[in-house]
Amino acid sequence: MKKVILAYSGGLDTSCIVRWLKEQGYEVICFVADLGQGLGQGEDLAAIESRGLAAGAAKVYIKNLQDEFAEDFILPALKANAIYEGKYLLATALGRPLIAKYLVQIAHKEKAGAVAHGCTGKGNDQVRFEVSVGILDPELEILAPVREWEFKSREEEIEYAQQYNIPIDVTKKKPYSIDRNLWGISIEAGVLENLEQEPPEDAYLITKSPTGTSTYPKYIEVYFEKGVPKKIDGKSYKLKTLIQHLNEIGGLFGVGRADLVENRLVGIKSREIYEAPAAAILYTAHKELESLVLDRECSHFKEAVALKYAELVYYGLWNSPLKAALDSFVQATQKNVTGAVKLKLFKGACVAVSRKSRHSLYKKELSTYGKEDKFNQKLAEGFIRIWGMPYKR
Ligand code: ARG
Repeated sequence: MKKVILAYSGGLDTSCIVRWLKEQGYEVICFVADLGQGLGQGEDLAAIESRGLAAGAAKVYIKNLQDEFAEDFILPALKANAIYEGKYLLATALGRPLIAKYLVQIAHKEKAGAVAHGCTGKGNDQVRFEVSVGILDPELEILAPVREWEFKSREEEIEYAQQYNIPIDVTKKKPYSIDRNLWGISIEAGVLENLEQEPPEDAYLITKSPTGTSTYPKYIEVYFEKGVPKKIDGKSYKLKTLIQHLNEIGGLFGVGRADLVENRLVGIKSREIYEAPAAAILYTAHKELESLVLDRECSHFKEAVALKYAELVYYGLWNSPLKAALDSFVQATQKNVTGAVKLKLFKGACVAVSRKSRHSLYKKELSTYGKEDKFNQKLAEGFIRIWGMPYKR
């Protein structure tokens, strides 16, 4: 029998896919990637497993990949300061190549000839999965049932699930499409499709409304070592835990919300809102520290790299040669990114108020307007003459 490994979430779509693939003659093995979407808290792991089996899967793999996600996917993007279209901190986009990696790995272990996902034909995620899988193993067949099956609505899927006794929670109204992981939450559809409407408060899951947050600011200090966040307020954390911690604190102060109309890779514009408190805090702190320790040319060049890096992640090219080359560049720039940044969280904002590093290139005796001034102002005259020389007629 043909075998397929399905990226399984436990939701309605992928549960119906299990059954649907079986009807196409496949033995289905489900793979649930725990990237910090709240499995084991809100969603009971055992319940997901039994749902997969009830839907017809031969086996359900559940893997906690949160540490690997933090260290090998989130961290490089943070070091690069990669941000898409000025607002999106790439939580969903960063998760896909990791899920793809394990789909391929499990396919090899199970000697399966195919992998499958539950993405629609209109989004970026299908591209990310399929391009990533294709790079890792071009021999694997890739199935995308949602692109070809007959269901036209959620109601039809529910009917199908009921017909085959697939245990799904139909009482749960689903006003939005949500993708969640350790690095952030992506929320779309429903009323969000109306661009003239402010996102309703009930769309946000982990951030408080900035209007309702404390009237007192909170200060936190983040300490980095070679570009890696290591401590909060002097206390060491491993990366995953540090991110979880910052999500909590940031969320309380309404930090990390974004609302944008973005350009999808497939040519469609879509409106999506995001929550990423830890990501917002860490990006701010990291950039602030870099401004202290990187020279001007390196710093400006790195901004261009950040833009390209974000595109590559968004476009599903995580495993591309250019992305690997940019990683080497970024890594080389992080040698001196060691130090501490103090941030002020207040009503949705996160701003740096203090920064220090033993590698600081800031020289007070040069920048000061006070009497400790050591800068020889006479030198400026010659510099300006030569600098402006080519433009004089
Ligand atoms: N637009 C984001 C991206 O392409 C998120 C996509 C998934 N969003 C969702 N709500 N399911 O990375």
